[in-house]
Amino acid sequence: MRVLVTGGAGYIGSHTVLLLLESGHDVLVVDDLSNASAESLRRVAELAGREPGFIEGNIADPAVLERAFGEFSPEAVIHFAGWKAVGESTQLPLVYYRENVAATVALAQAMADHGCHLLVFSSSATVYGDGTPPFTEDAPTGATNPYGRTKWMIEQILADAAAADPQLAVGVLRYFNPIGAHPSGRIGEDPRGIPNNLVPFVAQVASGRLAQLAVFGDDYDTEDGTGVRDYVHVMDLAAGHLAALDYLVDHPGWNVWNLGTGHGASVLQVVHAYEQACGHPIAYAVKPRRPGDVAASFADPAKANRELGWQATRTLDEMCADTYRWQSANPNGYRTD
Ligand code: UD1
Repeated sequence: MRVLVTGGAGYIGSHTVLLLLESGHDVLVVDDLSNASAESLRRVAELAGREPGFIEGNIADPAVLERAFGEFSPEAVIHFAGWKAVGESTQLPLVYYRENVAATVALAQAMADHGCHLLVFSSSATVYGDGTPPFTEDAPTGATNPYGRTKWMIEQILADAAAADPQLAVGVLRYFNPIGAHPSGRIGEDPRGIPNNLVPFVAQVASGRLAQLAVFGDDYDTEDGTGVRDYVHVMDLAAGHLAALDYLVDHPGWNVWNLGTGHGASVLQVVHAYEQACGHPIAYAVKPRRPGDVAASFADPAKANRELGWQATRTLDEMCADTYRWQSANPNGYRTD
């Protein structure tokens, strides 16, 4: 299939592009490189032995969309591009609505205009808010910050679009907490600045780039008092996109699947698993809770298993070992300075 991948140079995008190429699909990546590096695609090409096409640009720009659809005639779109920092979204809500919501509407319109009917969208378990896990896809959804609201709104917009167009097949993937890296250590997560998320932060403490991890709260109603999340290996997550693509070929309409392992791990369990991977202790101190955090979030992944035949297969130890391999080989991420 010819697959257009927006945000394909980013963390989850690059791992998915690799699997698409390895599975024989033709890929065009559109990425404005605002939070990604073209080096990731160079390495993807080296691993796959084939190159994806690449347009540097933002899908909110009509000329970029026109060029991508005109030159490539995609049969499917996997849409990763978007802004994703919760704190920043409260400061720059209009940017989030433009870059996430408005850009997705433009993308869906371009698909309709060019007869492309298959869309996989990156959503987030953030839409489950502070409900009670494990979350099934029919749990109540909503959001508590602008970033989360963009994901929630896009889900609704795509549901309306699918209801109006009997040919359109939409697969909404609600990611839990993606971590890990390709086992080669050649591609991985490369956050700019100080990481917001737990594992990139832990990895930089382990490598000596940051001094100490702040554990945001140890008084939650969880086994050890620290926050519990469903960490899922990025290669498992990437495989979920290919499974969704396959399914959508003969299932028009709006579909949603959780991509998670179904098991939670606490902050301290992650720290200890990473200590095993890197072979030395990781400095941490308990600090107050981070505003907006929930105690526990983990998936019920049964629907993805049943309908897509998808299941996460990699353990937390493998996720940490792969992150450590990537981090050790690339202490400055994709930057060579
Ligand atoms: C966060 C976002 C979520 C987004 C997801 C993926 C918030 C509140 N939520 O999810 O909307 O979809 O990232 O980008 O930002 N922790 C620490 N110290 C740290 C960092 C994290 O103790 O330095 C803890 C957190 O309190 C939490 C766990 O580690 O219990 C995981 O945090 P994180 O990696 O930021 O993911 P989420 O909060 O689940």
